[in-house]
Amino acid sequence: MAMIANKCKGTIVSVVDLNADRIAAWNSGNLPVYEPGLDEIVSQNRGKNLFFSTDVDEKIREADIIFISVNTPTKDYGAGSGQAADLRFVESCARGIAKAGGGDKIVVEKSTVPVRTAQMVKEILDSANNGYSYQVISNPEFLAEGTAMADLENPDRVLIGGDTSEEGQVAVEKVVSIYANWVEKERIITTNLWSSELSKLTANAFLAQRISSINAISALCEASEADVDEVAKAIGTDSRIGPKFLKSSIGFGGSCFQKDVLNLCYLCRHFGLPEVAGYWEQVIQMNEYQKERFVTRLLDSMFNTVSGKRLAILGFAFKKDTNDARESPAISICRRLLEEKANLAIYDPRVSKSSILSTLGWSEEQAEGRIHFCSTAEEACDRANAIALLTEWDEFKELNYASIYANMQQPAILFDGRNLLNLKSLREIGFRAHGIGRD
Ligand code: UGA
Repeated sequence: MAMIANKCKGTIVSVVDLNADRIAAWNSGNLPVYEPGLDEIVSQNRGKNLFFSTDVDEKIREADIIFISVNTPTKDYGAGSGQAADLRFVESCARGIAKAGGGDKIVVEKSTVPVRTAQMVKEILDSANNGYSYQVISNPEFLAEGTAMADLENPDRVLIGGDTSEEGQVAVEKVVSIYANWVEKERIITTNLWSSELSKLTANAFLAQRISSINAISALCEASEADVDEVAKAIGTDSRIGPKFLKSSIGFGGSCFQKDVLNLCYLCRHFGLPEVAGYWEQVIQMNEYQKERFVTRLLDSMFNTVSGKRLAILGFAFKKDTNDARESPAISICRRLLEEKANLAIYDPRVSKSSILSTLGWSEEQAEGRIHFCSTAEEACDRANAIALLTEWDEFKELNYASIYANMQQPAILFDGRNLLNLKSLREIGFRAHGIGRD
């Protein structure tokens, strides 16, 4: 929304949330989300045509176009628990919009939703019977965290799906005209509602599948002395495969991939397609296997016990350049190491102590003596038996590993879970160094 305000100076953008603390943070100098470049865009436009408010009903009444941008987590109760998307926040937005009234509206699904959600939104809006007409549009978001501002400024495509009726097409054109302020027309794809909704889940499923595919090959590389980065480069030069998203890792994380693939599986089962569901479920299973494999290899290299040993954890975010730790692969790896009675010294440049504790499900009391929260990578590595590098922060490339090595317990072990470092140089220093798919 900040980017829309920035690119469409004649349009007023109001961001509303029921959570007053969040809105206060958006109105302060300390935004609740860390995203490179976001601060500048917000501060340049806030108070001019970009506003943050808790006055939900009034802003709904004033608006011509409303973007529903609430979360759609995996359901953790009742039917579809563990797979289906929980749509109660989307539903309550639709009910709120219907109740607030104020005129005809275009309602845009920005949240990632299962295919045919627009049907539910439309039924709720129409059942208000308030004399106003509503058009529902699907406009899924494809930005990635850490590169959000560049992705928004220069998107590969913008996808807008709408009803095929005349009124539906008018609404589609209105939403197209917003993006057309800065995105070339050729990159704005219009489709029917269901294709747009399904394309979002499919895009994430394909991206997650690529990571699971290269991670599956990484296990074979370790067994066969092939190097996964070399294999990725060799296959990525084939223009049909392409070089992006082939970086082998400890597994994908983040709030989207697992949730969306599970949701796709649920939809397949719902529509009577168990074979298709089973195909996509493998993407998740491979991701779990990759995380567990990392722990097993670490344990093997440490004589099968880490009990009482100090392990430095470098990075906890699910990827670099974000403070987001949701579904980070670091969570299950750290949990497993804690189960094995290791003591962890965690350093991440952006993820807060409270977010680490809450994602691990540990209280501050439990963490006492078992988890140390460090303010530098050097502090985390001091007297450690091993280092596990779990997020590819740039600063980890620049560390003085010779001096880190000198302050560690011997033999000093290093597991690079992101293939960020040069293993040969680390071995010359004296480390027993390991990567993913390249031993
Ligand atoms: C992902 C998609 O890339 C976006 O297009 C989509 O809009 C977004 O989900 C969403 O649905 O909101 P995001 O989760 O922010 O974006 O980050 P990604 O860059 O996709 O990374 C996801 C995970 O995959 C990270 O843990 C990352 O480290 C891992 N990854 C990524 C790899 O292990 N290898 C790679 O080659 C690429």
